Amino acid sequence: MSGLRSEPLASSHDRVGFTCGVVALDDYLRRQASQDVRRHVAAVFVMVDEGDPGTVLGYYTLASYAVETRGLPEEVAKKLPRYPTTPATLIGRLARSIDQSGMGSVLLADALRRALVSTEQIGSALVVVEAKDDSAAAFYRKHGFLDFPQEKRKLFLPMKTVVAAVGKSG
Ligand SMILES: CC(C)(COP(=O)(O)OP(=O)(O)OC[C@H]1O[C@@H](n2cnc3c(N)ncnc32)[C@H](O)[C@@H]1OP(=O)(O)O)[C@@H](O)C(=O)NCCC(=O)NCCS
Repeated sequence: MSGLRSEPLASSHDRVGFTCGVVALDDYLRRQASQDVRRHVAAVFVMVDEGDPGTVLGYYTLASYAVETRGLPEEVAKKLPRYPTTPATLIGRLARSIDQSGMGSVLLADALRRALVSTEQIGSALVVVEAKDDSAAAFYRKHGFLDFPQEKRKLFLPMKTVVAAVGKSG
């Protein structure tokens, strides 16, 4: 590998060749992702190796989101203003190629960095994920995400934690 870079999904990326082992996530990249980008429903980023920039090693999506503040754990909610909803950034999907073990952490760090940079333009106090199964939830917990008390497999990370981990320079 010569070096990794993440970039917005483009027609030069081989979407058909991407396999993560979860059909729904492969199909999303093939069939839906470009349309979501065109409709401004999600921003889609892919990770590529600079030496082979057409091959997708992994991808993730980011979108604006809002959470009900009262649905957060009390110790988190009390540090936020008492607005009914709190602005957030949703990592809607995240998947790495089946042969790219370890790429999940790289993708997540990249997604968090982009989420943090975006807060300079559009406020966002949390990063939220809806894990598709217990295994994915465990992956996110391993990276510091906390569970919403009332919602199974929905997790969040305060942007303050991202700031501490990534730093403003990102
Ligand atoms: C979930 C996924 C992104 C993890 O990627 P990965 O490259 O295997 O993850 P990493 O190796 O970077 O894992 C980082 C840490 O999380 C842990 N982890 C990864 N998958 C885990 C799992 N299923 N359960 C528990 N911990 C897990 C690893 O043990 C590792 O911990 P360590 O650093 O202490 O060794 C990947 O398996 C994937 O793309 N799966 C298919 C799509 C999917 O399920 N996406 C989830 C979005 S809902």
